[in-house]
Amino acid sequence: PPSPKKTPPWPSDLCRGCRALIEKVRKRYTKTWKKQEDNYRNLSSQLRSQCQGFDRAIITQANTPVGSSIVYAAEKKKTLKVTPEIFSTFIKENPFPKKKWDTCAVVGNSGILTNSSCGEMIDSAQLVIRCNLPSLGKGYEKHVGTKTDIVTANPSIMLKEYGGLMGPRRPFVESLHSYGKSMMVLSPFSYAHTTPVCLRAVYSIRDFESPIQPMFFNPDYFQSLALFWRSRGLRRGLLSTGLVMVNIALEHCANVHLYGFWPFSNHPFELNAVKNHYYDDKKGKWGVHSMPAEFDLLLRLHSQGVLKLHLGNCR
Ligand code: CDP
Repeated sequence: PPSPKKTPPWPSDLCRGCRALIEKVRKRYTKTWKKQEDNYRNLSSQLRSQCQGFDRAIITQANTPVGSSIVYAAEKKKTLKVTPEIFSTFIKENPFPKKKWDTCAVVGNSGILTNSSCGEMIDSAQLVIRCNLPSLGKGYEKHVGTKTDIVTANPSIMLKEYGGLMGPRRPFVESLHSYGKSMMVLSPFSYAHTTPVCLRAVYSIRDFESPIQPMFFNPDYFQSLALFWRSRGLRRGLLSTGLVMVNIALEHCANVHLYGFWPFSNHPFELNAVKNHYYDDKKGKWGVHSMPAEFDLLLRLHSQGVLKLHLGNCR
């Protein structure tokens, strides 16, 4: 029989505090994971009753009529009155089916996915959720898969990489081909300056008849999620996109699997350096979010058998 894989020695250039952190994670991370049905059911139903992502996570023409006021998630003093023009960019009704999905994969963008061979396992989920228009294809298939049912789109990508969609819009629309007919969730109501570019994204998608289905996060939902987790110990910061999608999955999916959530600079088992993203090393807004605290929460949910966090390689 093959001999068990040895843990590599600790590298001398490991970041300060990383060894203690990794040792702590290894102790708490149970590889022989088993779903604890009661814990899962409790949390899922609390989220359903207190945050109601099922009806409220997405702005629709049914839940946000013309004339209503939207309060910005990160700028509470700013509001936006829904005009008929803005209303016309909302999807008609709730995009989520009444029935729960069986297995969902939520894919964060951490470099921990590099060489993970998790692509096949990710794609085998009934519903695959990805964050912030990540790179797909280009040799990443084996490690991150290709299937996408829901993808979020951060306005900063459109502002930084597509000129705010003020010029030619074809390159942006073509970049969406890799997500097929998925639901694309934009976040126009966190910061007021990002509303126009998100509206332009919807117009561009419609003008070019792209099959992707654009829709908007509801900032009220962010607010109730923040309160929900604050009362359970997550003290600081706006929730990261990845954590928001985990919450949506917990309401809608019987089995929730997470990949690509690892906001630290060395791999927990292989110990090699890990980039912030599997496709680049751009740093996130970690002053705004509280990534290590969020990771701690995900690890807790893993230990409680509520969801399964995949940290190692999938082969
Ligand atoms: O822009 P933001 O930091 O929210 O996200 P991102 O870098 O595009 O990655 C998507 C999600 O994956 C984040 O919101 C985090 O929840 C998660 N992530 C992580 O856990 N560790 C990393 N090194 C990078 C992302």
